Amino acid sequence: MAKLEFSIVVATDAAMGIGKDGTMPWHLPADLAYFKRITSTAPPGKMNVVIMGRKTWESIPDRFRPLPGRINIVVSRQTDYELPNGVLLAGSLDLALDLANKDDVENAFVIGGGQLYKEALSHCDCTGVYITKIAKTFACDTVFPSLPDGKFEGVYASNYMVNDDFSYCFKQFKLS
Ligand SMILES: NC(=O)c1ccc[n+]([C@@H]2O[C@H](COP(=O)([O-])OP(=O)(O)OC[C@H]3O[C@@H](n4cnc5c(N)ncnc54)[C@H](OP(=O)(O)O)[C@@H]3O)[C@@H](O)[C@H]2O)c1
Repeated sequence: MAKLEFSIVVATDAAMGIGKDGTMPWHLPADLAYFKRITSTAPPGKMNVVIMGRKTWESIPDRFRPLPGRINIVVSRQTDYELPNGVLLAGSLDLALDLANKDDVENAFVIGGGQLYKEALSHCDCTGVYITKIAKTFACDTVFPSLPDGKFEGVYASNYMVNDDFSYCFKQFKLS
């Protein structure tokens, strides 16, 4: 079976910050809805896969995880890490992509956090990046790396929209 291509989905602040103390420092319902639509939409009989680092898994409140309607894969070096039934454990990003590479899988998305994004961005099978860009700087302790020079090109940018005291837009990049 051919290798599975995947995309990254991330929301960053103006300084590329993505998280603080194991959570996201902003509340942006429109981004949660956008994230759900991008990662859930698949044709009948198919499903998408979301791949996340162990800390991102732990950052999702119990009542919202696993993310419904998607195959959830958690990446951890802990071979005995306990997960609910149906959630898959992988010892590396490549092993997660192997697990995800099934006939009934439509798309795969790496959804964080900082450690996994770093590896995913330089991975040869990463063909797209969805970035929600927030035009304000928050106090963050985790960042999203710069896009590698020349690897991706912008293919979509929404207008800026307003949420409380900051504005944001949706951008999409594809492999050049
Ligand atoms: N803004 C956004 O769009 C967004 C999205 C997601 C998350 N976040 C934020 O990002 C932060 C979490 O990011 P983070 O960088 O601290 O952690 P993370 O990437 O979510 O998880 C790190 C953990 O994943 C496992 N891992 C990572 N790379 C691995 C590899 N190559 N092989 C095997 N295991 C690997 C390790 O688990 P073990 O230690 O168990 O081995 C590692 O400790 C939180 O603040 C969260 O809210 C933001």
